[in-house]
Amino acid sequence: MTSKRLTVFASGTGSNFIALHQSVQKGIIPAKITAFITDKPGCSARSYAKEHDITDYVLRPLDFDSYDAYVQKLLTVLEQESPDLILLAGYLKKIPDEVIRRYPKRILNIHPSLLPRYGGKGWYGHKVHHAVIENGDQESGCTIHFVTEVYDDGPIIAQRKVPVFPDDHPDTLAKRVLKEEHTLYTEVVKRLLEQD
Ligand code: GRF
Repeated sequence: MTSKRLTVFASGTGSNFIALHQSVQKGIIPAKITAFITDKPGCSARSYAKEHDITDYVLRPLDFDSYDAYVQKLLTVLEQESPDLILLAGYLKKIPDEVIRRYPKRILNIHPSLLPRYGGKGWYGHKVHHAVIENGDQESGCTIHFVTEVYDDGPIIAQRKVPVFPDDHPDTLAKRVLKEEHTLYTEVVKRLLEQD
């Protein structure tokens, strides 16, 4: 039995979360996803967590008297969950600096571009793919990086490229990139846990 623990943060569909969970179930990732944290109570990713008996937490600043109270709660939950790695998988809220400082090189994010291109505050989802097409880029891809206090700026762990075709639409490009995200995230998490 593995004792490595993962906490996943997501705000949306959660296809990366699902891909990671399936890799855990298949024994490819030597760990358990023990907790799921979201800022969006109605997101599909949360439904998936509930259906698969993964402890879920909704944590939003608006539910607390102060931002500091929210941060303290987040730190307490993570302390209890004791994750070896924290995986951001389409999580749209900024992780508080105190949390980032508490878990150096243990928080990972996946981004749907070849960082440093199309990264930083406001660069997410279709906005990225639209800009890649508009700029006539011949390739795009995804990046997994450690999370630091600056958006999308932490040390890059791995990237995977995909071609951009002349007739691409943000949807077709997003789908091609997302497919690579799913395999790359599994490979990176497996590698980091095995190195540990
Ligand atoms: C992915 O494109 C990821 O790179 C970005 O948000 C999207 C999340 O997709 N951070 P999903 O919710 O995992 O399907």
